[in-house]
Amino acid sequence: MRDKVFSLKEVYFSYLGRFPALCGIDAEILSGQKVAVVGANGSGKSTFLSLLDGLIFADKGEVRFLGRELNGRAFSDDNFLRDFRRKVGFVFQNPEVQLFCPTIKEDILFGPLQLGLDKAKTESCLERVSEMLGIGGLFERSPHQLSIGEKRKAALASVLVMDPEVLILDEPTAGLDPSTSRNIIDLLLDESSAGKTVVISTHDLHVVEEVAEEVYVLGQDRRVASCGKMRDILSDAALLAANNLTHIHSHRHGALSHTHSHLHCEQKGCRDGGLNKKG
Ligand SMILES: Nc1ncnc2c1ncn2[C@@H]1O[C@H](COP(=O)(O)OP(=O)(O)OP(=O)(O)O)[C@@H](O)[C@H]1O
Ligand SMILES: [Mg+2]
Repeated sequence: MRDKVFSLKEVYFSYLGRFPALCGIDAEILSGQKVAVVGANGSGKSTFLSLLDGLIFADKGEVRFLGRELNGRAFSDDNFLRDFRRKVGFVFQNPEVQLFCPTIKEDILFGPLQLGLDKAKTESCLERVSEMLGIGGLFERSPHQLSIGEKRKAALASVLVMDPEVLILDEPTAGLDPSTSRNIIDLLLDESSAGKTVVISTHDLHVVEEVAEEVYVLGQDRRVASCGKMRDILSDAALLAANNLTHIHSHRHGALSHTHSHLHCEQKGCRDGGLNKKG
């Protein structure tokens, strides 16, 4: 039986005690699983992932990592902290949070250095990751000189180079060109084939289809609106529409316009989400 990497029971979290972000979340993520967290803007995806990474702690309910509750006490134990940071890698939605050294190479090597990881292994990992992401030419540049997409790639590299068992990535392909997105998806699939646990958040249902086996949909009430197998979630037009995950096309023909939703898996036998004409 696969280990429960994360389990969340009735988890509540509010920012500053005033701004509710998650209101009673239950979830279970097993070792080696590929999980996507989707939902509208502000539905709590980043908050959910931050709880998994121990960046914030539940106000109520519990979050457990391999059976151990993630709270202030766990993280004040140096052995646990070290072991957790070695095993779990987190890529922020905003890559700027992750880049603070004078050069990108120093940024990428910061984590392995802090954790005292094997130099030869780090070098070979760095070579592979930088080739996949095409960032070798950025090593001597300063983070503030880079485009957003380049920063995102560098932030991803700084986590992948540590070779963590669990990868948590907040919108890993947002703002990236199609070819780089492709490389990142391939990279995540490789990591998963190597037995790693992969948890991402995204609005991109194409990424969900390729990367995820399990999907959590966070609702605008900040609870889990649905969770299940990727194929079941992606073929539920009503669920996707209710959670702002359906693309709406609008066509104007002179004074007439019509809109229609574009189902992600339209070509794969799903029913369209409807047609609406305006005169
Ligand atoms: N630092 C903060 N202080 C106060 N409220 C916050 C803070 N960060 C997030 N929130 C609020 O918590 C809720 C959930 O935010 P979160 O960033 O987790 O959503 P999200 O699903 O990741 O959104 P997006 O798709 O825009 O990235 C939102 O209502 C947001 O306004
Ligand atoms: Mg977010």
